[in-house]
Amino acid sequence: MIAIVGAGKVGSAAAFNILKDRISDVVLIDLNAELAKGEALDMMQAAPAIEFDGKIQGTGDFREMEGAELVIVIAGQGRKPGMTRIDLMNINAKIIRSIVKEVVRYAPDCKLMIVTNPVDVMTFIACKESGLPPNRVFGMGNILDTIRFRSYIAQELGVSREDTHGLVIGEHGDSMVPLVEYACVSGIPITTLLSKKQIEKIVKQTRTSGADVIKLKGATTYAPGAVIAMMADTVLKGRNRVMSVSTCPQGEFSCPDVSIGVPVVLGKNGVERIIELELSAESKLLFQESIYKVKKAIATLEF
Ligand code: LMR
Repeated sequence: MIAIVGAGKVGSAAAFNILKDRISDVVLIDLNAELAKGEALDMMQAAPAIEFDGKIQGTGDFREMEGAELVIVIAGQGRKPGMTRIDLMNINAKIIRSIVKEVVRYAPDCKLMIVTNPVDVMTFIACKESGLPPNRVFGMGNILDTIRFRSYIAQELGVSREDTHGLVIGEHGDSMVPLVEYACVSGIPITTLLSKKQIEKIVKQTRTSGADVIKLKGATTYAPGAVIAMMADTVLKGRNRVMSVSTCPQGEFSCPDVSIGVPVVLGKNGVERIIELELSAESKLLFQESIYKVKKAIATLEF
C-alpha cells in the first residue's frame, strides 16, 4: 500500500495516476479529512472506467498509514508567482518535521519519498530526523526536471519524446544542472543535433519550467503527478530504473551533509545505489555551486 500525505492538487493527481496505472492501493491523508475523503470518493467512482479494483481511502488519521510500503509526502505550501522554492523553506520545514514523526511512529519500515519544496532541504530534514537508513529516504525533483528537459529537446527537434534521454542533477531549483553532455536522442548526442544557441534555450526552459506553469495557472499538477507515479512504480515493483533523485550521498560525489539530486538506481529498497559520473568542467562547477546553495539554505534553517 502507498500512503500519500497531502490531498491537494499534486497529491490527488499522483494518487489518481497510481490507481490508473494499477501500481498499488492508496491511502490519501490530509489534515483536511473532508478533502481527502472527497478526493478518494471521486476516484473510487472513476475506478470501473480505469479498470482499477484496488482500494482508495481518504482520511485525516495518520494511523491509516500503518503497513505502507511507500509514504509520499506532498503536504505543505506551494510557491506563488515570483517566489523561489527556497522561499518556502522555513514554513514547510515545520510541516515536514511533524509528518516525519507520524511516519516513524506508524510506518517505520516504509520508503519515505519527499515532494514538498524545497525538496532537497526537506529531504535532508526527513533523512536526519526520521533516523531511517539513508537509502530509504529520497526526494522527487530532478526526475521531474529531466522529464521537462526531454520534452523541450523533443519539441525543438520535432521527434518523439520517447526517444529523448537526459539527466538533470543538483538542486530541484534555479541552480539545477541539466547535463548537456549526457543528453541524447536514441543514443545520438544532442550536441550533434542542435546548435549551441538551441541547447542554451532548452536548458533555460528546463530551469524555469515549474515557474512558467505557476505564472500561468498558479501551480504545477500533471507533470509532478505523473512523475510521482513513475517513481512509485519503480519502487513498488523493484524495477531498478535509473533516474535522478534527491538523496543524502554517503561519500559519493564528495558532498556530505546535504541532500541533492544525483543519478541513482531506484528499486525495492529505495536508493539501491548512487551512480557517480564524469562531468564536463562546466557541469562540475555548476554542480558544486548547486550543492553550495542547498548547504547554505540548510545552514540558515530556523529550528
Ligand atoms: C515543480 O517543479 O513543478 C514543483 O517543484 C513546483 C514548483 O514550485 O515549481
